[in-house]
Amino acid sequence: MTENPPLQVSFNRPILVGNENEYMKQAIEAAKFSGDGPFTRKASELLEQGLGVPKVLLTTSCTHALEMFALLLDIQPGDEVILPSFTFVSTVNAFVLRGARPVFADIRADTLNLDESRLETLISPRTKAIVAVHYAGVGCEMDTILEIAGRSQIAVVEDNAHGLFGKYKGRYLGTFGVLAAQSFHETKNFTCGEGGALLINDSALVERAEIIREKGTNRSRFFRGQVDKYSWVDVGSSYLPSDILAAFLLAQLEQREKVQNHRRKVWEFYNEHLQDWPREHSVRLPYIPPHCEQSYHMYYVLLPSQELRHGLIAHLRQQGIESVFHYLPLHLSAMGQFFGGQLGDCPVTERVSDQLARLPFHNAITEQDLWSVVEAIQAYDF
Ligand SMILES: Cc1ncc(COP(=O)(O)O)c(C=O)c1O
Repeated sequence: MTENPPLQVSFNRPILVGNENEYMKQAIEAAKFSGDGPFTRKASELLEQGLGVPKVLLTTSCTHALEMFALLLDIQPGDEVILPSFTFVSTVNAFVLRGARPVFADIRADTLNLDESRLETLISPRTKAIVAVHYAGVGCEMDTILEIAGRSQIAVVEDNAHGLFGKYKGRYLGTFGVLAAQSFHETKNFTCGEGGALLINDSALVERAEIIREKGTNRSRFFRGQVDKYSWVDVGSSYLPSDILAAFLLAQLEQREKVQNHRRKVWEFYNEHLQDWPREHSVRLPYIPPHCEQSYHMYYVLLPSQELRHGLIAHLRQQGIESVFHYLPLHLSAMGQFFGGQLGDCPVTERVSDQLARLPFHNAITEQDLWSVVEAIQAYDF
């Protein structure tokens, strides 16, 4: 086996984009290291106003915001939750932790989002929630999903880990479900290393969400002077990030126009310069429906087979370029099989999971990097 050369273009590289250092210094000097300090408030308000969401609570990760979904929806053992098999493990774990049975949906072949046309066949009297995962920050078909769920009074929630500032029919992703979750992990458009947010679109859930995030206590009400002592009032955990992380995040979010502009150019560069090669090699590029404004989170290519996909990743690595694949179908994982998942249950997921390769995409990538990637891809002949 030939040794790989040093990496020239990494898949991801988190960078400072604004006042991160200054804001973190301020948070440290204010000697307010724990959560819900001034930076937590400012970052939450920026998201509330920017997206038009009644209440945003920062969390320690998107995974934890998803776990809060399951607590807020009172998911009980035996309840069923419908979600795509083509997603990150946290989407499913959050509900399984509460004893729910996951019901895996297949995805659409075009957007790789939950296939709403098959949704009704998955609903049973035990269905409590449907999780819309906006893959690559391209909106799921929310009108249909909400209509189907509404008929059976099933909650719709959004895993919007990829989709901050993306829109479906002119409305921000994360504002459709009763709850939505964001990720600020270092691979996302905006980051604080590890972090997330819970978007609450139903005001009736705000108070309980604050309690769950504060270890099951009414401490938030205490700090606002609404009660004279705080105590244990519900189940909960510790989902509140440090104000130092919120300071970092605020600086990132303040640069949203600059960041999103850069990412749009990266996405358009790949899309423009990769037109001939896919046509000649039966490779498929991402599809963005005309009524969706994507979040420019990632760029992927779909190769004709798993062998060719692995071949492309190895070929790029030989040129010092890092590309990655995901997700392994959840229904075929050890846990998925424990819940009854079988080969053939979600054929599109099974196929796409073998075919997809993600190209380098981050806030520091340069035009020279992009040319290197495009030229290396074009030299991959088969
Ligand atoms: C669709 C999806 N949901 C949830 C997560 C979990 O995010 P976090 O790392 O912030 O917990 C990820 C992570 O990449 C993801 O891709």
